[in-house]
Amino acid sequence: MKSFALTGNPIAHSKNPLLFAAAYHGKYTYELMPADTAEEAMQLFKENALEGMNVTMPLKAAVIPFMDELDDTVRLLNAANVVVRRNGKLKAYNTDVCGVSGALEAAGVELYELPCLVLGGGGAARAAVAALHRAGACITVANRTMSKAEDIAGLFGTNVIALEKALQDTGAYNVVVNATPAGSAIADRLQLCAGQTVLDADYANKPLKEIALKAGAFYVDGTQWLLHQAFPAYRLFTGEEPDIPAMLEVMNNMLMKK
Ligand code: ATR
Repeated sequence: MKSFALTGNPIAHSKNPLLFAAAYHGKYTYELMPADTAEEAMQLFKENALEGMNVTMPLKAAVIPFMDELDDTVRLLNAANVVVRRNGKLKAYNTDVCGVSGALEAAGVELYELPCLVLGGGGAARAAVAALHRAGACITVANRTMSKAEDIAGLFGTNVIALEKALQDTGAYNVVVNATPAGSAIADRLQLCAGQTVLDADYANKPLKEIALKAGAFYVDGTQWLLHQAFPAYRLFTGEEPDIPAMLEVMNNMLMKK
């Protein structure tokens, strides 16, 4: 039986095992394998004779030097969330970009030439910017550490503004993406308004949900991002089509229990 896993830390809260089980009806195994370093993660990959691994914080960049091949998006973003073994070689992919595109497309959100704000400067923010860039949006990035936002601007030709200014001016954007784990430190200060779309990467805490809905904004849950990155990841792992309706059902059940 082919075996797969999720690595990173913390991962105990992850919905990936349940989603994966639904996708393939238990045909393959999928386990949580916490690791603090890429060395540890790669050791687990080898010891457990895995076919593929999902990679999450803080290892998305750290696993890259261990790969034999890199997908173009991994090269561009310097972040990988999927590692696959084929013919004894390891190849890294990044399906987070599909996660953002898929979540916004499924919600019917227009992006072309519209002003969009991305809050954050890490891997999640880079994936969000790449997705918005592909869709032809007019992007502004704001991050606590300005230099990281400037690095993203260098890659994609986006605008950059100070985080403080962005928080005061959020009303000027059609779409606001929160790609930080800052929670209420950011959410409580956003000036949102009706008609805007808010995509919140923090699907565990959903810090922007109440504030967005109160303002009359359209809230896109981070679980949509999670789902839409999982579809292509699972195809890469197995070469097979996952059972998407079963995955949606599992996700909906989890959301209802919350
Ligand atoms: P990921 O790979 O999920 O994007 P990350 O690389 O750790 O995770 O990036 C997290 C982002 O959230 C960073 O841009 C971080 O800002 P800094 O670059 O200044 O560190 C941002 N962030 C985290 N906590 C924050 C806070 N309390 N206020 C504002 N930004 C915060």
